[in-house]
Amino acid sequence: MAINDKLDQWDRQHFFHPSTHLAQHARGESPNRIISTASGVYIEDRDGTRLLDAFAGLYCVNVGYGRSEITDAIAEQAKELAYYHSYVGHGTEASITLARMVLERAPDNMSKVYFGLGGSDANETNIKLVWYYNNILGRPQKKKIISRWRGYHGSGLMTGSLTGLELFHKKFDLPLEQVLHTEAPYYLRRSDPSMSEEAFSADCATRLEQMIEAEGADTIAAFIAEPILGTGGIVPPPKGYWEAIQPVLKKHDILLIADEVVTGFGRLGTMFGSEHYGLESDIITIAKGLTSAYAPLSGSIVSQRVWEVLEKGTDELGPIGHGWTYSAHPIGAAAGVANLQLIDKLGLVGNAGKTGAYLVEQLRERFADHPKVAEVRGEGMLAAIEFAESRSPLTLFDPARKIGPAVATALLKHNIIARAMPQGDILGFAPPLSITTDEVDIVLDGVSKAIGEVLG
Ligand SMILES: Cc1ncc(COP(=O)(O)O)c(C=O)c1O
Repeated sequence: MAINDKLDQWDRQHFFHPSTHLAQHARGESPNRIISTASGVYIEDRDGTRLLDAFAGLYCVNVGYGRSEITDAIAEQAKELAYYHSYVGHGTEASITLARMVLERAPDNMSKVYFGLGGSDANETNIKLVWYYNNILGRPQKKKIISRWRGYHGSGLMTGSLTGLELFHKKFDLPLEQVLHTEAPYYLRRSDPSMSEEAFSADCATRLEQMIEAEGADTIAAFIAEPILGTGGIVPPPKGYWEAIQPVLKKHDILLIADEVVTGFGRLGTMFGSEHYGLESDIITIAKGLTSAYAPLSGSIVSQRVWEVLEKGTDELGPIGHGWTYSAHPIGAAAGVANLQLIDKLGLVGNAGKTGAYLVEQLRERFADHPKVAEVRGEGMLAAIEFAESRSPLTLFDPARKIGPAVATALLKHNIIARAMPQGDILGFAPPLSITTDEVDIVLDGVSKAIGEVLG
């Protein structure tokens, strides 16, 4: 495509970017980057700069870029049938096939999948379903949702409330009153440094139970959590966390919504995070890895337990009053079918486990002893380095120094993308599941230079 030299100007004049400093961008004070093509783990901007994307877009391009198996499937679907809705029992070959493929991969207690467009709308769906469920069961008071500080569940009204990051609440009049936040399972940042991981996990469960009891269990509908904290800092759960949390939920008849938008379809080296950590989830949120972001599609996988109540509800009330025009869009569904086939064919779940372990191990080996590194952590193909003034006792950097973003910017100069996570000096890695060990080595060399440049 010919270079349009007005794009930069048009971008600043007309394009309202998400998660961007709007004023600086409009004034031309922050860089813009116009991406034109991509292949494998590399993206290329229109100036011809090639960057190794060690965050797979927004941890979503799990199969890597430029896969013709998926783009061909999208093109064929668009030619054959670009759209039909899925209301009142309508479906398409792609949407029905994908539902079956998702259920074949999901934990055994799962029953049906509702398709949306993105992770946020899927979680909005989930909360509506949970409220409907309790109304049908005759428990109209049981409606509050507990999420965790540092959880990320989207940026809609309800989902932005569930998200436990300050930036997503500030000046938006969020969180909504039905949402409560409990302790983040962030062992590094524990208030009592003498606590063991197991004791910290037990303490998280105790605090959760105290919150439930203070509010009244008959007012709490669900607990929503990512199997491993993602945007809140890429923090694997401390030992014994899920083992301590789940009995509390069971005891008080509180549904567990596992938000697997990041972990679904292989990122942890297992098909689902629920499987990875032994979660008995009642609803599972999926998005990103479902289509590897080749087309927008998300889903709410509903367990048999919840499904039975939804059926009962429609017998009492008629059709469920929930749906989007683009639910189960055939182009997204065709992308999903081709994507899941490709994940199997290339053995990407296994590669996420194997090469992911190499990534985390090498990050540890090379950076864990750096005096300004508080922790190197990760699970599967998800990893993070957290920077701090000192490790022991843990003294964080003054946030105003923006150390995390500075390291990410230095890394970018070496043509490697990692993500400065939004709350803390944390550099996150979530490359395509197809990344090779040679490509991981390129990332590691770049990180080494970037850390050296910023922190010595
Ligand atoms: C765990 C989790 N849930 C939900 C979402 C929201 O998804 P979306 O941005 O597609 O609305 C995200 C996005 O990063 C996520 O990481």
